[in-house]
Amino acid sequence: MSLNNEVLNCIHERRSTRKFTEQQISSEQLDALLDAAIWAPSGGNNQSWLFTAIQKKSVLLHLNQLVYEGFQHWIPDDDYPGKHAMKKRSKQEGYNFYHNAPTLIIASNKPNYENAMADCALALQNIFLAAHTLGLGSCYINQLHWLRDDPSIRAYLLEMGIPKENTICACAAVGFIGKASPVPARKDGTIQIIR
Ligand SMILES: Cc1cc2nc3c(=O)[nH]c(=O)nc-3n(C[C@H](O)[C@H](O)[C@H](O)COP(=O)(O)O)c2cc1C
Repeated sequence: MSLNNEVLNCIHERRSTRKFTEQQISSEQLDALLDAAIWAPSGGNNQSWLFTAIQKKSVLLHLNQLVYEGFQHWIPDDDYPGKHAMKKRSKQEGYNFYHNAPTLIIASNKPNYENAMADCALALQNIFLAAHTLGLGSCYINQLHWLRDDPSIRAYLLEMGIPKENTICACAAVGFIGKASPVPARKDGTIQIIR
């Protein structure tokens, strides 16, 4: 990379963290992450997303139990290897779908809205980059998306104020980095320039 720029450096340096310390992030940090999320672009400026941050450990652990139980009777609807791997991983001892992060932010959006995922994904990347620049680790968490129609999970999310009609797009796990993740190499042949 020939240009030295703070944002470009942040994009390069951000990694998916899968080992966090127990220390909770500060209120100011959480506010900054949520503010970064709502400043993402959205289709037609819809801003129809909802970001639900959970920091209460008992709530996170109960959600983890529901995700574990959900995976036991979940049948992946296609052959995407990631789905099968995720189901298999849920059987491992000490399974924790959000990597024991102290903060989990659930991104949901209105149903039947074509840009629901795109808008939330852009907002999540804002969270990941903001987390990195604040010295925090973060990780995209997909399990609640796959299990978004699980009745027990939906009932619990409804208790948290996530409307039952909202589609669960994805989550961000956030906390202080316990162990740095390796830097994955970039694949060749993924860029074309027509001049
Ligand atoms: C759509 C999507 C789903 C992902 N789901 C998960 C997940 O459920 N759990 C997880 O630990 N990482 C998940 N990741 C993180 C990827 O594994 C990670 O971005 C990739 O391995 C590259 O590593 P890096 O983010 O450190 O560059 C996901 C990433 C994306 C974009």
